[in-house]
Amino acid sequence: MSDKATAVAPANIAFIKYWGIRDSDQTLPYNASISMTLTACVSRCTVELLPEGPGELEVLVRTDGILAPAPPGFSRGIERHLLRLKTWAGIRGTFRVATENSFPTGAGLASSASGFAALTLAAAAALGRPLKSRELSILARSSGSGSAARSAFGGYVEWPDDKGEGSARQLAEASHWALSDVVAVVSSAPKEVSSREGHRRAPGSQFFARRLERLGEKLRRVRAAIAERDIGDLGSILEEEALELHLIAMSSRPPIFYWTAGTIAVLRSVRRLREGGLAAYATIDAGPNVHVICPSDEEVGVAAALRELNEVESVIVDRVGNGPFLTEDHLV
Ligand code: DP6
Repeated sequence: MSDKATAVAPANIAFIKYWGIRDSDQTLPYNASISMTLTACVSRCTVELLPEGPGELEVLVRTDGILAPAPPGFSRGIERHLLRLKTWAGIRGTFRVATENSFPTGAGLASSASGFAALTLAAAAALGRPLKSRELSILARSSGSGSAARSAFGGYVEWPDDKGEGSARQLAEASHWALSDVVAVVSSAPKEVSSREGHRRAPGSQFFARRLERLGEKLRRVRAAIAERDIGDLGSILEEEALELHLIAMSSRPPIFYWTAGTIAVLRSVRRLREGGLAAYATIDAGPNVHVICPSDEEVGVAAALRELNEVESVIVDRVGNGPFLTEDHLV
C-alpha cells in the first residue's frame, strides 16, 4: 500500500435535517436525518504520509488550479482530525495534505461533509488502512461534522443507523431514483453563526421538544416516499422540514437568522414553479441559499427559472450520486 492516497467525496443535501447535537464529544445528534448524496459538488483530497521528522503538517488548497498554503483556521480542524486518525491506526508520522472543492469556494455551500469524508478516506488509505463505507462513516463523523457521516454512502442515506456506533446507512442506491438538487445561490458571504453553534443552541428553542416528538413519523414518511419514488410526498415533507429547522434557529437564544430577502424571493418562485406544473420543492441548510429538489428531467426548467431572479447570484445544478471513491488522480 502506497503512503500517498487521493479520495473524492461528495456533499449531500438533507431532506430531514440534523439540527441539535446530543453528544458533542462523539458528534451524535438528537434525531436521525435523511439525505441525498450529490455528484457534482465534491471535495478531492490527497494525503501523503511522510516519515516522522522535524517537518510539520502541511496543508495546501487548490483554487482555480493554483495550489497555495491553507489559512490557519482551515488547517486546525484538519490537523485535529489527522491526529485522531493516526491514533486510530497506531501509526506515527506527519502528513502533507492538498484539497480542492469542485464547487465555488465561498458560495456558502456546506463543504465540511465532503471535505472531511474525502480527508478521512484518503488519510486512512495513506496509513495503509483502506476503509469500507461503514467505517468511513464512523470515522468521518469523529471530525465533528455529523453530515460527513452521510457522505460516506451514495444515493439516499440515513444517519445514524440503529446499530449504536453512529454510522450512516444507505436507504437506496442513486440509480433507484433520479433526483436533482438545483441550488440558487443568493449570498456567497460566509455564514455568521456556524452549524456547530446552531446545534448547541437548538434545544433552547421552545419548539425543539415538539419537533423531536413528531420526527419519527416524518422519518417514516420520507423513507416510504423514497422507496415509492413519490416526489409529492417527499417534497411536501422536505419543505416543511426546512421551515422547521429555521423556526428552531430563529427561536433559539440568542436567535439565529440565516435567511435574506433573496431566500424568500426564491421560496416564492419555487411555489410559482409548482403552480406552473413543475415538481420542485425547496430546502435550506444553515445559510440563505435555497436547494430546489426536483426530478432530474425537470432540472433544466427549474434552473432557467431560478437564473431569471434578480436575487440569485448563480445556480448550481447537481444530481444524486454514487458516493466517495479513491483515485490515482493526485493533487500533488
Ligand atoms: C443544517 O455539523 O454536519 O446542514 O458544519 O457543515 O459540518 P457542518 O455541518 P454539520 O450540520 C449540518 C446541519 C445542516 C443540516 C444537515 O445537513 O442535516
